[in-house]
Amino acid sequence: MSNSSLLAPGSTLEKRYRILRELGRGGFGRTYLAEDINRYGERCVLKEFSPVVHSTKAEELFAREASMLYQLHHPQIPRFRELLRTDLSGNRSLFLVQDYIEGPTYEELLIARQQQGRSFSEAEVTQMLFQLLPVLEYIHSQNLIHRDISPDNIIQNNSDKLPFLIDFGSVKQIAANAVYQFSKQQDTAIGKQGYSPPEQMRLGKVSVASDLYALAVTILVLLTGNKPQKLYDSNSKTWNWRSRVQVSQNLGSVLDKMLAEQPRDRYQSAKEIRAALKDPKLSQISSILSQIMTVNFVGRPFQSGSQTASSKNPPAAHNHQAINNIRKGFKLVPWKAVASLSVVLLPGMLALIWSHRVLVFLNCRNSRRFQMRQLQSLK
Ligand SMILES: Nc1ncnc2c1ncn2[C@@H]1O[C@H](COP(=O)(O)OP(=O)(O)O)[C@@H](O)[C@H]1O
Ligand SMILES: [Mg+2]
Repeated sequence: MSNSSLLAPGSTLEKRYRILRELGRGGFGRTYLAEDINRYGERCVLKEFSPVVHSTKAEELFAREASMLYQLHHPQIPRFRELLRTDLSGNRSLFLVQDYIEGPTYEELLIARQQQGRSFSEAEVTQMLFQLLPVLEYIHSQNLIHRDISPDNIIQNNSDKLPFLIDFGSVKQIAANAVYQFSKQQDTAIGKQGYSPPEQMRLGKVSVASDLYALAVTILVLLTGNKPQKLYDSNSKTWNWRSRVQVSQNLGSVLDKMLAEQPRDRYQSAKEIRAALKDPKLSQISSILSQIMTVNFVGRPFQSGSQTASSKNPPAAHNHQAINNIRKGFKLVPWKAVASLSVVLLPGMLALIWSHRVLVFLNCRNSRRFQMRQLQSLK
């Protein structure tokens, strides 16, 4: 798809960006490390989008849509500096200029560890999840889906060791749409085979849950050191990773839920995952309570128009599931704590109720006496 031209190290773009080296090469063009002459040689990244420039209208559309990236402001997302239009040996080219994040990608980190015969530990991936989930929460709050989360699109910043999210697939999608709209070239599904969920790869459907799915695959790859294709059984449509790595029950069940085949069975927000990781019991109780809330008094779930799940399963199955959930919910309640609390609180409550009654009684008696006195004085 790309017709990008190679920029040699030392060459200068628009008399401003001196190319230092090529960082990568993707379907839409090359990515370069450069220094900004106007800013005392500050390092930056130039990412080419060569196929977009086949038509001026496509370029306009791309530029307009890509402008939403300039509105993203998060300390773990490289700042987008400018959209550079230039002529490269007669070809119009577009470059996204962004901040350079110094540090290895998680793919590079994994390779380095594998050379020492190890991969990432549970503690490391849990920390990474806690550091990355707020970034996803932020992007999603801006109505943006990343679409291409994978170890090579996450950089560990050298200075603070925080993970940075790069390479927004949504920009590539905009580019692909622009190409398709104006040149009718084959539309491309943006995402990475193995990382992106089935609905994204097959139908191009993306949602918050599809980013969360790709994040879970990323975590599994870092934990096991295996490629996603080795972990996913396409016949049974299941992720078989437990035989390769042992993790706590909580992290395991969080990952399983993130990786559910159907988007509706996954977590619907990064926040939910954070809560589940922090307090597994509480998040289980809240999810069970929310399920109980959707069961009406005859035990049937409310029929919501968009819920295809309920239409597939007969109500009896739902009722059975609901009852099971209620049982599970009861098991989760810390009854011992509730009992010991009641021992302390109950006498106090009773004392309060009795003192209230005594006060009311005294009050009535006083007002009756007062009325009697007034009646006597009238006589
Ligand atoms: N902002 C950045 N800071 C540092 N390195 C970057 C940055 N953006 C990209 N890179 C490096 O360039 C590689 C390719 O860039 P990327 O944006 O992922 O393009 P693509 O995967 O589409 O080729 C990355 O894997 C990373 O090593
Ligand atoms: Mg990339």
